[in-house]
Amino acid sequence: MVFYFTGTGNSLYAAKYLDDMRISIPRVIHEPSKEFKADSIGIVCPVYGHEMPDMVKEFLRNASFYTEYLYLVLTYGNIHGGASELAARFLESCGKKADYINTLLMVDNFLLGFDMKEQIAINPEKKVEEHLAGIRKDIQSRKRWIQPVTDVDREWHTRFWPPALAVESVRGFVRADAFG
Ligand SMILES: Cc1cc2nc3c(=O)[nH]c(=O)nc-3n(C[C@H](O)[C@H](O)[C@H](O)COP(=O)(O)O)c2cc1C
Repeated sequence: MVFYFTGTGNSLYAAKYLDDMRISIPRVIHEPSKEFKADSIGIVCPVYGHEMPDMVKEFLRNASFYTEYLYLVLTYGNIHGGASELAARFLESCGKKADYINTLLMVDNFLLGFDMKEQIAINPEKKVEEHLAGIRKDIQSRKRWIQPVTDVDREWHTRFWPPALAVESVRGFVRADAFG
């Protein structure tokens, strides 16, 4: 069983690769009962500002999972900023624990910062299928592992993400670009 949240399809693509039994988080978020039982339960979603989207967090906070193996796959487009550690910390804050957390580099859809055509052009370099195959193998073998995070990753989150700052820097970039 794999739950997914997707804005532009990357996380759905990954979820399809990982499990046939897929459930959309927006479809179940308002269900009165959120109790789920399966041999393995996965969550696949993008990172927004290095963290899971608010709806995914709300779902994780309120759902009960009865499983031997809970895993998270976090898709991102450029810099994950220590997403695995941030997600593990979030789960801990709601009394849950993942057995496996990994990130997956895919097309970046943060349109404020990137040109979509360029992103699609460089996509082959990201070797998505190869990484997904590795993740699927890990999950099938019930690997227990949280992707390690470096101080540089953490610094991206603490120094560069505050959204206002990010939007401001993108504006600055656009302004500089527009006026030479
Ligand atoms: C609001 C927003 C914030 C994002 N933040 C990040 C980020 O912090 N780091 C990153 O590498 N990619 C970031 N991205 C890119 C997405 O995480 C990435 O493209 C993801 O694979 C999209 O998945 P989806 O198609 O399933 O929505 C962001 C995208 C959006 C729209």
